[in-house]
Amino acid sequence: MTNNKQDIIDRFTSKGVFPHQMAFTLLIPLRNIFLSPKKLIKRMNLAPSHQVLEIGPGPGYFSLQVAKFLTQGKIVLADIQQEMLDYAKKRLGKSNISNTEYYLCNGEKLDFSDESFDRIFMVTVIGEVENKGAYIREFYRLLRADGILSISELAGDPDKMTPQELMALTAKAGFVLGEMFGNQRNYTINFIKTKLL
Ligand SMILES: C[S@@+](CC[C@H](N)C(=O)[O-])C[C@H]1O[C@@H](n2cnc3c(N)ncnc32)[C@H](O)[C@@H]1O
Repeated sequence: MTNNKQDIIDRFTSKGVFPHQMAFTLLIPLRNIFLSPKKLIKRMNLAPSHQVLEIGPGPGYFSLQVAKFLTQGKIVLADIQQEMLDYAKKRLGKSNISNTEYYLCNGEKLDFSDESFDRIFMVTVIGEVENKGAYIREFYRLLRADGILSISELAGDPDKMTPQELMALTAKAGFVLGEMFGNQRNYTINFIKTKLL
């Protein structure tokens, strides 16, 4: 990847990993019209004690409010770009948030113990992930029984997946469909890791 302006713009407008050089565009408050951090916290049915993993936080638009909500819990921000993690760390640090960890993903495995999280969430990320099946299986391993994988997709994202595509993908890994919010253009779907009988 280069720092050439045209190259950055091309990557911004096409499929693939979102260029970190454009991270500032993810912090525009107008985004709240489609999905606000407050709304997402409600949709995920988050509790203050939860252990949360966010995949692809970018500069941390949602992470900040989630971290604040988790008064007895913790959020791990896991991104494939170190620059995004640095940006998020700087932002959250300014608000004196300390219940956070930052994890650089390799795009395949996530080096955490089985059943370490109550919630895993991602907003406009899944379409960028190369090996989606392997990631979803990792999420299943990492969630506690009854834990929720919450996936949000928003209009305008060139990598956006349809609810139907996500349902097929997650069902293969053993997830059960939970609540759905929004519409085909902007939505959140919760997938549940059910208890094994
Ligand atoms: C469009 S941005 C969304 C950022 C944030 N979720 C938001 O809505 O503001 C996508 C993010 O996913 C990250 N990403 C892409 N592929 C990834 C992967 N395989 N694992 C972890 N993060 C990934 C990118 O680096 C980028 O920060």
